[in-house]
Amino acid sequence: MEFFAYQQSDIPEIQALFHQTFADSEGEAEGKIIGELAAELLTRTPQEDLYCFVAKNENNKELAGCIIFSRMQFEQPVTAFILSPVAVLTPYQGQGIGQKLIRFGLDKLRQDGVELAFTYGDPSFYYQVGFEQIPETHIKAPQPLSYPIGWLAQSLTEAAVPHIPGKSSCVPALNNAEYW
Ligand SMILES: CC(C)(COP(=O)(O)OP(=O)(O)OC[C@H]1O[C@@H](n2cnc3c(N)ncnc32)[C@H](O)[C@@H]1OP(=O)(O)O)[C@@H](O)C(=O)NCCC(=O)NCCS
Repeated sequence: MEFFAYQQSDIPEIQALFHQTFADSEGEAEGKIIGELAAELLTRTPQEDLYCFVAKNENNKELAGCIIFSRMQFEQPVTAFILSPVAVLTPYQGQGIGQKLIRFGLDKLRQDGVELAFTYGDPSFYYQVGFEQIPETHIKAPQPLSYPIGWLAQSLTEAAVPHIPGKSSCVPALNNAEYW
């Protein structure tokens, strides 16, 4: 498996990958929603507010996995991105690809001076790649959380995850209550 930053020409295959993976795990309707979210993030978000990385099968060049990070902002200057969504195609799951791809992405962000990474999902999966639960009293999410234990962050510097008072915001494509 090889890991790369995405290219614009990957967008249709990325949308299909998210659609198929989430259709397999959550049903067709959710697959369609997350496929469209991925496409919207990649087409509507300014390049400086976005990172997207893919895992490619080096034999057949098929995309096996994809992760998207988009910028979060606070009432004070902090360089932060949120990882969402994440998918590894069903036949490739459980082989360590998701974790390797996330570590690859976090390393790139760290090299670019990003200070904090957030995500929102199953803590038991994301603990394995360095995320920790954060109470909303510590750092507020951009939208009300339907699953507060899934609000997670990690520091990409030597400092601990700080307390950041005030509101947070995410890019428009993610700023929809149904995703939170
Ligand atoms: C979650 C996902 C990205 C993980 O990718 P992967 O390549 O299968 O994961 P890895 O092989 O790197 O890691 C496997 C570990 O993650 C855990 N894991 C895998 N999928 C998980 C899930 N949906 N929830 C919780 N833990 C999960 C496994 O138990 C395993 O842990 P172990 O090694 O301690 O047994 C992938 O399974 C997927 O795309 N699932 C469907 C879509 C989804 O749920 N996306 C994430 C939304 S938060």
